[in-house]
Amino acid sequence: MTVIIDGNKIAQEVRHSVRKEALDFKEKTGIVPGLAVILVGEDPASQVYVGRKAKACAEVGFLSREYKLSADTSEAKLLNIIDELNADQVIHGILVQLPLPKHIHTDKIIAAIDPQKDVDGFHPYNVGGLVSGNPLFVPCTPRGIMELISRTGIELSGKEAVVVGRSNIVGKPMALLLLAQHATVTICHSRTKDLPAVTRRADVLIAAVGKPHMIKANMVKEGAVVIDVGVNRLENGKLAGDVAFDEVAAKASFITPVPGGVGPMTIAMLMKNTLDAARMII
Ligand code: GUN
Repeated sequence: MTVIIDGNKIAQEVRHSVRKEALDFKEKTGIVPGLAVILVGEDPASQVYVGRKAKACAEVGFLSREYKLSADTSEAKLLNIIDELNADQVIHGILVQLPLPKHIHTDKIIAAIDPQKDVDGFHPYNVGGLVSGNPLFVPCTPRGIMELISRTGIELSGKEAVVVGRSNIVGKPMALLLLAQHATVTICHSRTKDLPAVTRRADVLIAAVGKPHMIKANMVKEGAVVIDVGVNRLENGKLAGDVAFDEVAAKASFITPVPGGVGPMTIAMLMKNTLDAARMII
């Protein structure tokens, strides 16, 4: 029987435990974890994500500060705000919502964030830490996926894990986390030859491509754990994952739905990272 992994429920459990830990931490130290989120421009999807982050902060008892800047904000102004936040004692985590407008160099902005406040785990210091096996912060979506996989009870050691997609936000850090758990890891991308032959090897298949329903049943091994990171807006306004859910669910042992799978875990893990950041200062 296929198990549909309930990301909403697991994310709620994570937020609940973060709230409890944060209350405990406040009682012992007087410190309330604080997160600053910066949004440049009016991208509708980004506006929704930023709103959800503020709501999650309120739910777990964190301080949250939002910066909503116009699309023509200069790089210098953004760097200035980051400098101020790096020095701000009540802010422990800084998140700059991506993508940024084209005139801003994303790498330069990420590198300006204090690595100890880089709750996204995107700063080169944290990327290096992930590669060498000792990161301060792990990117939230892959961290959330590891939590979902761990709750399936499957042992990753020696298993074949295939990640489709090589983004800095999901694909690459995901592969490194699976490798750290001793899986045999393959990363596929747009130039991969015979993609179905590779994905069919997967005991654990992670789809993070951004193409609706591209992972079909003939690309999946019987009994695989299938994790769908896709958030694709269809013309009819509905959300679709990267996985053709119904036909793949018939073959998988565990599968995440879209919506309600990976998505809620990203924000739950952002709360966890922010609590970790606050703990780091004492
Ligand atoms: N845009 C899409 N996903 C993310 C994320 O995890 N962090 C940030 N900062 N921007 C994003």
